[in-house]
Amino acid sequence: MTDLSQAVSILRNGGLVAFPTETVYGLGADARNEHAVQRVFAVKQRPANHPLIVHLADAQQMSAWAQEIPDAAWQLAKHFWPGPLTLVLRKQPQVLAVVTGGQETVALRVPAHPIAQALLQAFGDGLVAPSANQFTHLSPTTAEAVYAELGEQVDVILDGGLCEVGVESTILDLTESRVPRILRPGMITRLQIAHVLRQEVFTKEQMATDILAPGMHPVHYAPRTKTMLLAPEKLLGFLHALLADDLPCAVLTRHAEPFAVSGVEQIIMARDAAGYAHELYDALRTVDDARFKYIIVEDVPRTAEWEAIRDRLQKASRNR
Ligand code: TXA
Ligand code: MG
Repeated sequence: MTDLSQAVSILRNGGLVAFPTETVYGLGADARNEHAVQRVFAVKQRPANHPLIVHLADAQQMSAWAQEIPDAAWQLAKHFWPGPLTLVLRKQPQVLAVVTGGQETVALRVPAHPIAQALLQAFGDGLVAPSANQFTHLSPTTAEAVYAELGEQVDVILDGGLCEVGVESTILDLTESRVPRILRPGMITRLQIAHVLRQEVFTKEQMATDILAPGMHPVHYAPRTKTMLLAPEKLLGFLHALLADDLPCAVLTRHAEPFAVSGVEQIIMARDAAGYAHELYDALRTVDDARFKYIIVEDVPRTAEWEAIRDRLQKASRNR
């Protein structure tokens, strides 16, 4: 595949390659090249204190980036990698400060997407790959969305179609205490991790935290259109109370029966969490581009499998 060898040589020369992962598209650069990593921050307009995830071809490469790796990390790697799980570990001394935001820890992940895998294997070392969007925007789940976000600033965009998982990886901190802690929920749930480790797993909210954690920025994963999250039982009443000035608006809902309210475009989402996550960002991006007055999202269940989706919806509805 000429695309792939071209992409590898661009990366070796300090260039930027956007590529699909199973979660969202990443903006890839050589994690050992300070200048290349700085370009990633510049292109995304991302503040320097937001550290990047280093993507690896396989779990064996973990030791080149992290030290004092606990057993839990190897167990989780064995169980969930390649896949949508990121582990925060103590960094090796030579890991660039620009990658870790000056912290003593590094985030590592082995993505499952065949194009990401092929690229990482051919490259042979770690690639930083933040989501390929402008800081605080929605993550891209298609190559077209990457182009809309970053345009010509990226040297190559590898097209892998619509991402399978659709929301960013679960980030698990294994450094801070004896109890693993989820810093960002993803489609691999706290319960699945606890089951593999046979140990309790905390969420960010369950522990006092003053360290730099992902998604802590109050506005994140946000459409430009004002977005509201509404309880299912309030939805119909709310729609009927909308004034002409509020219309047109788009509603993301899991209910297939038509609302039949004029000026309200109903977008019917999957009933199951995996299906919903898979289509979420693409649906949000589409309605965001269509210039509705509001995007209204019907809230989703409060169970563990919906936790990552609820987290993203809450962030999307905390408007700029
Ligand atoms: O699914 C994903 O993880 C995607 C795909 C492309 O792999 N990547 C992604 O990267 O979401 P990014 O940069 O958009 O989000 C990474 C998050 C950031 O919010 C950052 O704060 C956190 O990971 N992070 C990175 N290194 C960290 C560290 N050492 N400690 C705590 N959080 C860290
Ligand atoms: Mg991101």
